Amino acid sequence: MSNLIITKGPEKGVILITLNRPEVLNALNTALLAGLSAALDKAEIDPDIKVVVITGSEKAFAAGADINEMASRNLVGILEDPRVAHWQRISRFSKPIIAAINGFALGGGCELAMHADILICGENARFGQPEINLGIMPGAGGTQRLTRTVGSALAMQMTLTGEQITAQRALQCGLISEICPTELTVERAIKIAENIANKAPIAVRLIKESIHKASDTDLATGLRFERHAFSILAGTSDRAEGLIAFQEKRQPIFKGQ
Ligand code: CAA
Repeated sequence: MSNLIITKGPEKGVILITLNRPEVLNALNTALLAGLSAALDKAEIDPDIKVVVITGSEKAFAAGADINEMASRNLVGILEDPRVAHWQRISRFSKPIIAAINGFALGGGCELAMHADILICGENARFGQPEINLGIMPGAGGTQRLTRTVGSALAMQMTLTGEQITAQRALQCGLISEICPTELTVERAIKIAENIANKAPIAVRLIKESIHKASDTDLATGLRFERHAFSILAGTSDRAEGLIAFQEKRQPIFKGQ
């Protein structure tokens, strides 16, 4: 059975990637991460794919790194871990990623969710960084992305105690943007993806990059980036189409040009 199920659609422009290791609550082993990374490589250069939705099962988005695999790696194995390159590939992806999260998003699962640009979750979602219970710490951005998103007090509490937070708490602290009934999470994520897939692709890409600058740089650098990106869009025919369509009171047809 494949570690990932990749479904195009239902609408054009969106692919749904389902993590598929239900027997271990979608624990992220190297093969799964390599598959995800390869799928994103393909999606990056496929002009028909505008948005990627990543989901797991109703019980678990992902319960973290595969602990059995991790146990087989010593210090050198960790230093030379091929997974680092896969995580970097996910964070470099230029198109929007939406995480549709039900059940457990723990450890590497919570870190994977935080690699997404929009996080939608079901009422049953639980987020946590329980690595401390294993005598280790987050290693795929957990201390950095979580802190930038929820602030240091909650990030400290979660990473030092291993306590999980509920969907409601995740919404309150800005970790996710929306909670749905669990059975509708994927449907809702795809709806959002379809909406974005109909927008001007170059603008979408630059907005994503610009928002990432908000956590990667100081304000002045971020504002400069935003202004350059805004100016670049003035050279696109999608901008001309968007403005004319507004004046002609019709829907724009964007071509990614
Ligand atoms: N790796 C490997 N196997 C895992 C796993 C993981 N992260 N999480 C769950 N499993 C396996 C369990 O061993 C179990 O297998 P068996 O049926 O063969 O016993 C199966 O999945 C079902 O799990 P449980 O029976 O434990 O299910 P539960 O509902 O009782 O508990 C849970 C669910 C609270 C998520 C519990 O499974 C758990 O605590 N999992 C580990 C979570 C964790 O510590 N994650 C962090 C990993 S380290 C990491 O992520 C570091 C990093 O990124 C850099």
